Amino acid sequence: MKILFYDTKKYDKDSFEKVLPQYPEIEMDFLETDLSVHTARLAKGYDAVCAFVSSDVGEQVIRVLEAKGVKLVLMRCAGYNNVDLDAAHECGITVLRVPGYSPEAVAEHAMALALAVNRRIHKGYIKVRENNFSLVGLTGVNFYKKTAGIVGTGKIGAAMCRICHGFGMRVIAYDLYPNKELDFVEYVDFDTLLAQSDLISLHCPLTEDNYHLINTETIQKMKDEVILVNTSRGGLIKTEDLIAGIRSKKFFAVGLDVYEEETNNVFENREDDILENSTTARLLSFPNVIVTSHQGFLTEEALASISETTLQNAMDFKNGEIKEINLVSR
Ligand code: NAI
Repeated sequence: MKILFYDTKKYDKDSFEKVLPQYPEIEMDFLETDLSVHTARLAKGYDAVCAFVSSDVGEQVIRVLEAKGVKLVLMRCAGYNNVDLDAAHECGITVLRVPGYSPEAVAEHAMALALAVNRRIHKGYIKVRENNFSLVGLTGVNFYKKTAGIVGTGKIGAAMCRICHGFGMRVIAYDLYPNKELDFVEYVDFDTLLAQSDLISLHCPLTEDNYHLINTETIQKMKDEVILVNTSRGGLIKTEDLIAGIRSKKFFAVGLDVYEEETNNVFENREDDILENSTTARLLSFPNVIVTSHQGFLTEEALASISETTLQNAMDFKNGEIKEINLVSR
């Protein structure tokens, strides 16, 4: 089983090489470049490609992969909104993913963003480094006894519910399929969640139905001074509407690990570039916004789990023993 890895960084290579000895039948090659129409042809001679959150696994790429003999796409992530599943199905290409490598890693990052941006840690850190010990502009709010509204209570959302519960918050949630294990959570409809939450954290996958779930209309339904956190997918929020909402002082704070125009930025050092879009710069210009670069998953535990499950997925495919939960189907 030969696998070509796209969009790899040192930490990916290190964690996959650590688990490789358990899988003697697998050979791996790593590319720094991401999967795209231009790079898909490099997969000639490989049984599988391994792609990530910003990879282009659209129809054209799938067709090139099919032509080069690739039978399997291994997503080393949970989300698969960047994969054209219809095209994969038509081309007989199986798509496997890592559905739950470490939900706590992402949920803890969501809470880290919420806390940091609420307490203006990003500003306090810079100020003190400049010998500015003034507290002006750093006032936050308590989370204790406030209401957390969690959108999507799958693995990550459930972990976020538990964290918020631990903070002494009232936890309400909206999900198409309520999670019965969360007996401390009150399920409400989406409008009620918007109207009652002091902290809203998004944990549902991006689908055709919820693209731009957060827009001018839904922002208007939120409480004033709400804190919004998105660690799920950028397309859940219509950024222009969010910026208008921030300008109108609707939000106390906003923490984003994902945002709409992240694709060219994610995991790249672009400090010498003139960026082609201004959305990121505009978001960063606000004192009550923190943006991180899709790093919610980035813990030692999560990387180890991603590597193990991805290579096990490859072996399961080879042996015809695919686990239903890891299979991404139309
Ligand atoms: P999951 O599949 O366990 O849970 C998703 C939940 O969302 C399910 O309970 C589902 O019923 C619910 N849902 C689906 N559509 C919905 C909608 N329109 N409104 C409300 N709820 C809806 O997924 P998991 O593992 O919790 O991951 C959630 C998302 O987090 C992923 O799809 C991915 O986009 C994102 N993610 C981000 C990472 C990061 O590094 N920032 C890392 C891993 C995942």
